[in-house]
Amino acid sequence: MSSVVLLSASPAGNSKTEALLEFIARRLSQYGHRTEFIKLRHLPAGPLLAGDSSDSLIASARATIAAADAVVVGSPVFKATYTGLLKVFVDLLPMDVLHGKPVLPVLTGGSVAHVLALDYGLKPLLATLGASSIGRGRFVSSSNILPATDTTPPSIDESVERDVIDAIDHFDSELTVRARSCPHAEAVDAEPLDPETLITAPTATERKPS
Ligand SMILES: Cc1cc2nc3c(=O)[nH]c(=O)nc-3n(C[C@H](O)[C@H](O)[C@H](O)COP(=O)(O)O)c2cc1C
Repeated sequence: MSSVVLLSASPAGNSKTEALLEFIARRLSQYGHRTEFIKLRHLPAGPLLAGDSSDSLIASARATIAAADAVVVGSPVFKATYTGLLKVFVDLLPMDVLHGKPVLPVLTGGSVAHVLALDYGLKPLLATLGASSIGRGRFVSSSNILPATDTTPPSIDESVERDVIDAIDHFDSELTVRARSCPHAEAVDAEPLDPETLITAPTATERKPS
């Protein structure tokens, strides 16, 4: 079992990106991984914009990422690239914080014309954090993401669901390889985050992986 942090860089409350990340988290939970969300929109704007990494919530988020075995980074495409919210947060992270961690980048967007934001925007950003293994990642059109309802978990339109699942399965394989190659990897101690505001641990669904 690996610990996976899912980082949401959407400023929106009813977020398609968060729905996609929750879909991914549920599948990873089915594979036995422990998942945690960090929603950047809940971090305090003042310290973020001032580059103040001493803020307690920002420090906790940094520590949580440092302690994770792997990270899924999700952002909507805004003005042809990842959000400014992601950039101000990444600017507060140490250069090597993703070293040795498999990373899965995902973008949501309104237009497939901006699918290359994955390769020209998000992946180079993650490479600056020392990520040695950045997955191919996926761009998912917002129209193909169906948010959770009172009775159903978030889902992906069947036209692209298989492709998203393939990305998750490949990521899971990387986690298995990493666990075998460093079985005694020590987790860095992380400050607990405020569960009400910053992190929500999604529950596993009943659905069996297909
Ligand atoms: C300010 C803003 C800028 C956007 N710019 C783009 C863009 O350049 N390319 C694109 O494909 N979609 C763009 N979109 C659409 C969003 O990427 C898309 O709706 C996304 O799924 C929203 O994710 P969210 O619900 O998690 O915020 C933009 C949306 C907003 C609000």
